[in-house]
Amino acid sequence: MASIFDEGKALLEEINAASPSTPEEVEAFRIRFLGSKNIVKPFMGKMREIANDQKKEFGLLIKSIKEAAESKFQAAKVQSEIAAEDAASAHLDLSAPGEPIELGSRHPVSVTMNRIIKIFERIGFTVAEEREIEDDWHNFTAMNTPEDHPARDMQDTYYLKDSSDMLLRTHTSSVQSRVMMSTSPPIRIIAPGRVYRNETISARSHCQFHQVEGLYIDKGVSFADLKQTLFHFAQEMFGSNIKIRLRPSYFPFTEPSAEMDVFLGTDTDRTYRLTKGTGWLEILGCGMVDPNVLANCNIDPEVYTGFAFGMGIERTALQNFDIGDIRLLFENDIRFLRQFASAL
Ligand code: DAH
Repeated sequence: MASIFDEGKALLEEINAASPSTPEEVEAFRIRFLGSKNIVKPFMGKMREIANDQKKEFGLLIKSIKEAAESKFQAAKVQSEIAAEDAASAHLDLSAPGEPIELGSRHPVSVTMNRIIKIFERIGFTVAEEREIEDDWHNFTAMNTPEDHPARDMQDTYYLKDSSDMLLRTHTSSVQSRVMMSTSPPIRIIAPGRVYRNETISARSHCQFHQVEGLYIDKGVSFADLKQTLFHFAQEMFGSNIKIRLRPSYFPFTEPSAEMDVFLGTDTDRTYRLTKGTGWLEILGCGMVDPNVLANCNIDPEVYTGFAFGMGIERTALQNFDIGDIRLLFENDIRFLRQFASAL
């Protein structure tokens, strides 16, 4: 009987004396003492041969063998992992140059939009941003767009599924009604953002594009203020020698309305094409805020007047960076985008 206990003690001693250090030794230790066919299992089977009054002692011996094997294995495993890490870091060359951090590039649309925003910020406009999913009221009704206006057609506007009320905003003019409803004059904001129209995608037009909207409302704002503000913008954007012209036009939300052209000339092939041989390029729509719009948005048209303008960004970006196809701006091809790494 004593020999079975001796066998157990010998196992315990073997475990206590073991010092597995390499991953291979640790694994061999695990297989011998803890694996599915470990050496402790057949030893446990000997419980049957033990006299009843010694079974308890034998059980405790088995328990201490198992615990010793488990704790030795865990400690050895941690040690061998630390050793492996140390060995790997011994090969580190601390004098090697660091990995360069790759600089991204700004998208040509962002570059153009930021330039426009900066110009207006310098003369006191603040940026207002609003939702792209808009309701019919803010996008059309508040902006004095008649019920039968073609822009309201499903053919031109993306309505949300199963809704005749929610849509993807067709212009940043929707921000005008949002701001007028939530702020009292004086209001002087610039609203950049993305807009959507159900258009066939081609080299010159896309179903999504960007606009910058401007709105100025106060007592005594006049058309002369509008013209001078836009002239200042054109000078900052295209150079101090730029010539502008305002042509009468129509928008439901302004009265009177105008479109502004800048004179680029026809000296190069590009400007000839861009201006269709006239030298003039249309860059924005504008006008005096229609009194109906003010009234719709709870601003008293007897007290306040205002001007508004809205311009597309993509066309200016294409022209600034000499890009021939609007689709390139939405494909996000990294080879295309990298070309603008130095643009701020
Ligand atoms: N919302 C017009 C469009 O998308 C652009 C526009 C014209 C905005 C005149 C204005 C404006 O604020 O006064 O074509």
